[in-house]
Amino acid sequence: MRWDVTAWPSTRVMTVTPEALANAVRCLRAGGLVAFPTETVYGLGTDATDGKAIARLYDAKGRPTFNPLIAHVHDAAQARSLGIFDGVAARLAEAFWPGPLTLAVPRQPGCPVADLATAGLATIALRVPAHNVARDLLAAFGGPIVAPSANRSGHVSPTTAQHVLADLRGRIDLVLDGGPSLVGLESTIVACIGEPTLLRPGGLPRADIERVLGHPLADGPPPIELTDSEEGPLAPGQLASHYAPRTPLRLNARTVDTDEALLAFGEPIPPGNDHAVSILNLSPGADMLEAAANLFSYLRALDALGASAIAVMPIPQSGLGEAINDRLQRAAAPRPDETPQQPRYKLHDPKDEHDV
Ligand code: TXA
Ligand code: MG
Repeated sequence: MRWDVTAWPSTRVMTVTPEALANAVRCLRAGGLVAFPTETVYGLGTDATDGKAIARLYDAKGRPTFNPLIAHVHDAAQARSLGIFDGVAARLAEAFWPGPLTLAVPRQPGCPVADLATAGLATIALRVPAHNVARDLLAAFGGPIVAPSANRSGHVSPTTAQHVLADLRGRIDLVLDGGPSLVGLESTIVACIGEPTLLRPGGLPRADIERVLGHPLADGPPPIELTDSEEGPLAPGQLASHYAPRTPLRLNARTVDTDEALLAFGEPIPPGNDHAVSILNLSPGADMLEAAANLFSYLRALDALGASAIAVMPIPQSGLGEAINDRLQRAAAPRPDETPQQPRYKLHDPKDEHDV
């Protein structure tokens, strides 16, 4: 079967057979969205290296923000090719993978996971699931699969294929029906970036982790999303972590000043651009999926130029525009307490009151 990945596909449901897995792999390779069971909850999977596919995933979930996603991998060796494991991370991976534990660690240089999947962060959340169907799919696909819980934004996480269909029928390409998820709670998330910190309680009890560590886990800030209730304004202080460029952003720019870089959207490019330090267009054809896929990497590229500001053309609120504008507004918010000496990308440290 060919997979014609379209904006709003008709959703196929398949019980798990070798043929269904082969179909799922073909669909993922074509940039499709495949819901599959893990031992915690059903995930909505797509190729972690394909920014456009990830933009479709956010669109299908109806997320008003781009929260970073968990990259699912087949084994610890694959995880270590994407993230940097210190001694603690290595011990936790050894003790609990495969299983309901997600480790947030620094990204490896050259990590091929799309910037949109990690929301522009320099860290990555990695998990090796224990469910046979998830494992077989990851083995057959051969690369990392990002998978948030397979529900519409604001709804509870699904533990059966029927729950997935109730939320996402007509918005995703395929559901692999592998029966109910047995844990029924999302994975426990531990950040191993300095002191090991519990970011989200979940299917692996804290006491089990502390037994392996030999000491209590630090408590992190509330994660970006404890459930899937991302609705409502999120103050920057509520975020576990988020990407913020160092160069000031000037939103809704209709002209470009000398020494500014321009983050364009659509056509025509505003006057003054001939003086711009550099111009990157999120999507000359005003395609929201393309714009979302380019957002974080273009911001990073323009941020590196030392321009006086990044002028950002207006971006409509339609579709993923809401999430794009949400991220741009956070990036543009003043950060009066940030000093140039502070690391630019780090997890929120609750002891550091000034960190946003
Ligand atoms: O059990 C699970 O973890 C399920 C199954 C499908 O694997 N997945 C899941 O994904 O719950 P999602 O997207 O619903 O939740 C991912 C959580 C979010 O709270 C997000 O903020 C956090 O992981 N996260 C992702 N990357 C992160 C990072 N680099 N640092 C800190 N938190 C991160
Ligand atoms: Mg979720």
